[in-house]
Amino acid sequence: MAIVGAGPAGLLLGQLLAREGIDTVILEARSREHVEGRIRAGVLEQGTIDVLREAGVGERMDREGLVHGGIYLCFDGARHHIPMSELTGGRAVMIYGQTEVVKDLVAARLAMDAPLRFECAEVSLDGLNRDEPVLRYTYQGEPHELTCDLVAGCDGFHGVCRTCIPDDVLGVWQRDYPFAWLGILAQVAPSTDELIYAHSERGFALHSMRSPTISRLYIQVGTEEKIGDWPDERIWDELHARLASEDWELTEGPVLEKSITPMRSFVAEPMRFRSLLLAGDAAHIVPPTGAKGLNLAVADVTVLARALVDRLQSGSETGLREYSDRCLGRVWRAQHFSWWMTTMLHTDPDGDAYGLALQRSQLEYVASSRAAATSLAENYVGLPLERTGASHAGGPWLS
Ligand code: PHB
Repeated sequence: MAIVGAGPAGLLLGQLLAREGIDTVILEARSREHVEGRIRAGVLEQGTIDVLREAGVGERMDREGLVHGGIYLCFDGARHHIPMSELTGGRAVMIYGQTEVVKDLVAARLAMDAPLRFECAEVSLDGLNRDEPVLRYTYQGEPHELTCDLVAGCDGFHGVCRTCIPDDVLGVWQRDYPFAWLGILAQVAPSTDELIYAHSERGFALHSMRSPTISRLYIQVGTEEKIGDWPDERIWDELHARLASEDWELTEGPVLEKSITPMRSFVAEPMRFRSLLLAGDAAHIVPPTGAKGLNLAVADVTVLARALVDRLQSGSETGLREYSDRCLGRVWRAQHFSWWMTTMLHTDPDGDAYGLALQRSQLEYVASSRAAATSLAENYVGLPLERTGASHAGGPWLS
């Protein structure tokens, strides 16, 4: 089995399979420094935490991760607490950077001496239609050819794997948003105990964190904006203005990193074509407002690992045949939740006064109705890995 991509999806799949005695080769186009250095989101659902522990990579996460039982919604200058744990029978999330998850997975992979090849150039996939997949790539200057049984496409939105599925097989659903996120990592203790999601007429802002001494903050910016137009002082000014609430102060600190990320919703179906199985960002993208991207990737590869173990241990093809459908129910739920959080909290540059009034009404409803807050909470902390009930396509999420 070959795994293309050494992000969280590919690395975790390799780790879950290794623990079942299944050998894999992981190919990655970027360098180890790049993969371990890129700053991504940082909210782990309970299900994700459980899988990382099961995979034997939960030790540092359990030591350093910050457990959060709620979030704040901030609008019209007031802060409202959503007590997620209380609303979901004790479920919580953990703040632990995706970057750290990746470092832990790389360390585990190298410790067991399993093949993990960084800086693979000219990766191409051929022979899918003949059910004889061949991966060709250049590694350390030498051309290589890998004939495999199955290929896991964990190579992200811009990866090659998805492009190997014929156009008449692959359905694509997508939406681009008329705004982006400018994110900073700052060397300063968080000014809040739990994450603050803020709606304001100046645009969305989010106060997150990475540790007791490192804050992670975001502001909504236009899609055409350049990072050079945003000196630190301008970013802090916006954060102060957008996060403002009574009796609360935002503390500034040195900015360690800053970048702009576009916002996109995207789903490709099916997630399996013959011996190619897509997982994570290769198959779907969500805007980061719901903190679902990493969690979806982890859920995909957990379902996939179980299907592969089944096939190898009992010869059953059922799990692989149903892989796409099993994932897509959860994927679409996360799509809706991420879109909903995004449209509720961001300022639409092309919007009107009516749209703004609807957003306010929705925010007030979520902040004041236990039913509405529970809906946000159960999606945020994460729904079960698979639906209960006889049919994957139609069964309920209730468990
Ligand atoms: C983050 O800490 O990077 C983060 C937190 C919550 C989000 C998105 C990103 O919704």
